[in-house]
Amino acid sequence: MNRINDIDLHRWQEYDEIITDSLWIFEKRDTSGAHLGWYWGNFIPQIPRQLMLRYTKKGDWVLDPFVGSGTTLIECRRLGRNGIGIELNPKVAQKARKMINKEENRHNVITEVVVGDSREIDIKSVLDKYGIKQVQFVIMHPPYHDIIKFSDDERDLSNAECVDDFLRMFCEVIDNVLQYLEEGRYFAIVIGDKYSKGEWIPLGFYVMDEVLKRGYRLKSIVVKNFEETRGKRNQKRLWRYRALVGGFYVFKHEYILLFQNEKGEAGMNKKYRLFVTESEGICPECGWDTERLLGFGVNKEDARRKIYELTGGAGYGLCTYCLCAELLDKDYYIVEE
Ligand SMILES: C[S@@+](CC[C@H](N)C(=O)[O-])C[C@H]1O[C@@H](n2cnc3c(N)ncnc32)[C@H](O)[C@@H]1O
Repeated sequence: MNRINDIDLHRWQEYDEIITDSLWIFEKRDTSGAHLGWYWGNFIPQIPRQLMLRYTKKGDWVLDPFVGSGTTLIECRRLGRNGIGIELNPKVAQKARKMINKEENRHNVITEVVVGDSREIDIKSVLDKYGIKQVQFVIMHPPYHDIIKFSDDERDLSNAECVDDFLRMFCEVIDNVLQYLEEGRYFAIVIGDKYSKGEWIPLGFYVMDEVLKRGYRLKSIVVKNFEETRGKRNQKRLWRYRALVGGFYVFKHEYILLFQNEKGEAGMNKKYRLFVTESEGICPECGWDTERLLGFGVNKEDARRKIYELTGGAGYGLCTYCLCAELLDKDYYIVEE
């Protein structure tokens, strides 16, 4: 029995629709049924469709914390998967619900859009409502930082002041959401890079690195062709000129990063996050103030406990310098938050 999808491996040659290569080229978007493509910044329905065919079974639960116009949930209805979407913007959520409900619900699944900030929404209570504790697949399509401004809300990732802030906010979402993903199951991040001040900013790789630091197993980096946005299409020649002048290539691709909720080798010594805590007094090693005490863990308490264990109880009183030295010796990876 296949644990993560409905593919019968005895009949593997019959699944023509399912892509198994890492280069995805779609000539055009699926505009059938409720997929009207009205939302600026949506993804093409073929993305959630392909991912759900590979990584979910009928009746599984899918979580999309950046649900936007509800593309994922429309596909959930078609494929018989239950879907929960979270969207910050109530107006977008309302329109998404309307469109999702236009799609026939032949498999009688639940497709709900919840309004909230995915960084802090209480996912447990959302799942409790349906008597479930975990989901079987998470698909994330965050803003590509500020390329499209989705709202004026400061909690919106597209309003992050800089790339570091964007990454911090994105990490808050993954830490809030991924704790509810069943062990061994998969999650996907759909993201593109951006240009700023004459420089290619590799948002996709930055995001991938953050996930690896948390110890998840990277399964694939898919490169997908990028549909020309309406704006870019009109300015195609101008962009070609800009590229020639500026020494860069015009974006034609984005990434679909596939991870498994299992410990992976690539992230080995990068499992814990770093926290800077309140002042804890004077470091007994060097006499400096311990204002920037460091800790590693999936949350603050965990970080404190681990530091306590690692330093044989002395950790709480060490300053940044002494603690770094101690932990670097032990091969731990340090990220400043
Ligand atoms: C790239 S779009 C997703 C589009 C979606 N895949 C679709 O097909 O319509 C990103 C979405 O994330 C939402 N968003 C931004 N920050 C958020 C946050 N903190 N919590 C929840 N949603 C957020 C935006 O309002 C936007 O609708």
